[in-house]
Amino acid sequence: MDSFYIVGGSRLEGEVVVDCAKNALLPILAGSILIEGEILLKNVPKYSDVLAMCKILEHLGAKVRFEKGDFANEDLYIDCRDIIYSDVSNELASKVRSSIFTLGPILGRKGIAKVAYPGGCDIGLRPIDIHITALKQLGCKIVDKNGYIYADASKRRAEDVVLSFPSVGATENAIMFAVLGEGETRIFNPAREPEIVDLQNFLNCAGADIKGAGSNLIVIKGVKRLHTCSYKAISDRIEAGTFMIAGAMCAKNLVISNVNSAHNQELLCKLSKTACKIKVIDDKIIMKGGGRPQSFGEVETAVYPGFPTDLQAPMVSLACICDGYSLIIENLFESRYKHIGELLKMGCDIKCKNGVCIVKGREKIYGAEVISPDLRGGASLVLAGLVAEGYTTVDNVDLIDRGYYRLEDKLSSLGAEIKRIKCEKRVDNCD
Ligand code: UD1
Repeated sequence: MDSFYIVGGSRLEGEVVVDCAKNALLPILAGSILIEGEILLKNVPKYSDVLAMCKILEHLGAKVRFEKGDFANEDLYIDCRDIIYSDVSNELASKVRSSIFTLGPILGRKGIAKVAYPGGCDIGLRPIDIHITALKQLGCKIVDKNGYIYADASKRRAEDVVLSFPSVGATENAIMFAVLGEGETRIFNPAREPEIVDLQNFLNCAGADIKGAGSNLIVIKGVKRLHTCSYKAISDRIEAGTFMIAGAMCAKNLVISNVNSAHNQELLCKLSKTACKIKVIDDKIIMKGGGRPQSFGEVETAVYPGFPTDLQAPMVSLACICDGYSLIIENLFESRYKHIGELLKMGCDIKCKNGVCIVKGREKIYGAEVISPDLRGGASLVLAGLVAEGYTTVDNVDLIDRGYYRLEDKLSSLGAEIKRIKCEKRVDNCD
């Protein structure tokens, strides 16, 4: 795996443009399985998770190609007219958590599916019982055997689905299964994340009839088929949030553009307590550094519109240099604190027990050789490296590439000293 080499101490200055959201694109890619026509997704960053999903689509029989478009990233064309297979192997599914999003659309389109248990970042137990229960409520027969989910939708029915917890993935799977067919499906207690709204908008653009995403009731009227469309996914609120946190840590004069600030209200509220001056103008967040950040107090992760779990790790890095104590509580994923052991190597003062972290901010933290434990944990180590004294190497940055596209180029363009060391140039750990 590649590494980042970071020399700390630069202050970020200039403008960075946020990409289309990984967590919107992944379900949209799965949703394309339902469409009998070529679709165009505009301005798609080549996150490695997106590439892994494209491989799954190709295996199912889709034609997938990237082409230069009007935006900074390439356009992605997907043609699912000839979906012939209905299985996703363990080899493909283990590469990406969102492989499980294919279960609903494969079932919806083909009537049967065999999908291996998903892989993805190791942030604790990631069960799929809510996905399965939702599909069962819609009449699917599901058997779980030897690491595969075997599903049969021959007795499907439009019904009310009640989710025991507003799981993002389960909501997306249920929507995608219910889109094709007859009758009305209602999903009670769905996830309300902006990415769910984006999936609804994409599928409606292709001819689906879905209402209510973003609220606590989603209603789907089944349609016979979906047609070709072109679509641009929403901007990535987690990438935006990562740059905003970086701004609170070390901005001189930072402009983050293509941001929907409504999607990051909780974060804005927390960052307003640090010394950084923040202005929101249209789709831009403008941040001016003001010395050492003050503690933001307390952060507790929750489902949307609460504070996103995906920004918990970067917030810990911010807390490490704040003046004062900060409290961070992770409520969604029990093993999402693996970055903390690495931050300790950088001289951070963190105590952690039962999902609660108390961080005593230090005036100085120090560069070290650290290992990215997962996607967002890796990003938090990069942020710590930007402000640490001396140099930091962050290993396993392929995990960061899952959800940040060319992070090092974006940070370099803002004046950070960061470069990628390709795996082949390293002598150790290169298997
Ligand atoms: C999505 C996001 C991920 C984010 C998470 C929570 C994508 C590709 N990933 O993941 O970045 O961190 O939402 O905002 O969109 N759960 C169950 N059973 C289930 C499903 C979930 O117990 O069947 C639990 C999970 O273990 C977790 C919680 O529900 O504790 C939230 O998970 P969920 O909302 O499903 O997250 P993902 O869709 O996996």
